[in-house]
Amino acid sequence: MHPSTQKIFPFFDLGDFVLREKCDEDVENFFAYYSNPEVNKFILCEIPKTLEEARHELHYWRKIFYQNDGAYFAIADKQTDKMIGSIGLSSFNSYQSRIELSYDLAQEYWRRGIMTRAIERIVQYAFDDLRVNRIEASISVYNIPSKELLLKCGFVLEGILRQHRLHLGQFVDVYFFSMLRGDLC
Ligand SMILES: CC(C)(COP(=O)(O)OP(=O)(O)OC[C@H]1O[C@@H](n2cnc3c(N)ncnc32)[C@H](O)[C@@H]1OP(=O)(O)O)[C@@H](O)C(=O)NCCC(=O)NCCS
Repeated sequence: MHPSTQKIFPFFDLGDFVLREKCDEDVENFFAYYSNPEVNKFILCEIPKTLEEARHELHYWRKIFYQNDGAYFAIADKQTDKMIGSIGLSSFNSYQSRIELSYDLAQEYWRRGIMTRAIERIVQYAFDDLRVNRIEASISVYNIPSKELLLKCGFVLEGILRQHRLHLGQFVDVYFFSMLRGDLC
């Protein structure tokens, strides 16, 4: 790629934590918090079972930005740079001008307002920089913390998609949320 067209991954300083690009050094911290059943029980994806699978997962999410499919950030403690979670946008549909939000956070950092602030910043990035019209999020109907979080952040619950995701051998209903550019007016 020509240097002038090289994409620069964004960086957001949110006080005691930052949103930054993921790197190889994050793998062990990522694997440690993500393997906690309390963290991953509502994550409707395959959970890495080894460090190698975790590395693969990290690379997959990192590439999204360079493939113009969104941007997936590490949430890192500003003092130590330790990765404590993830948040990002993926499945960018440029024609329909919409993108999908997802996130996770190590258990010891819950209920400090971290994800509320991270979502607010990523929503701003999606509307102001990526110029999308609509941000979507889908979660298991059993995921009450995430449902409350999305409502608090101003997402609108559009409905339930019945048995939309296969998770651990079971078809799971999901809540479908969105936020529109026009919702902010
Ligand atoms: C859901 C999760 C990301 C929330 O992150 P967080 O940084 O703890 O959230 P915040 O502190 O910003 O909380 C924001 C709001 O979310 C809701 N919330 C968060 N945790 C909650 C819980 N355990 N029960 C009910 N509501 C909860 C509350 O409305 C809260 O606002 P309040 O503190 O004013 O009451 C975090 O708990 C988590 O990662 N859980 C693991 C499972 C999961 O849901 N992962 C995401 C898969 S989609």
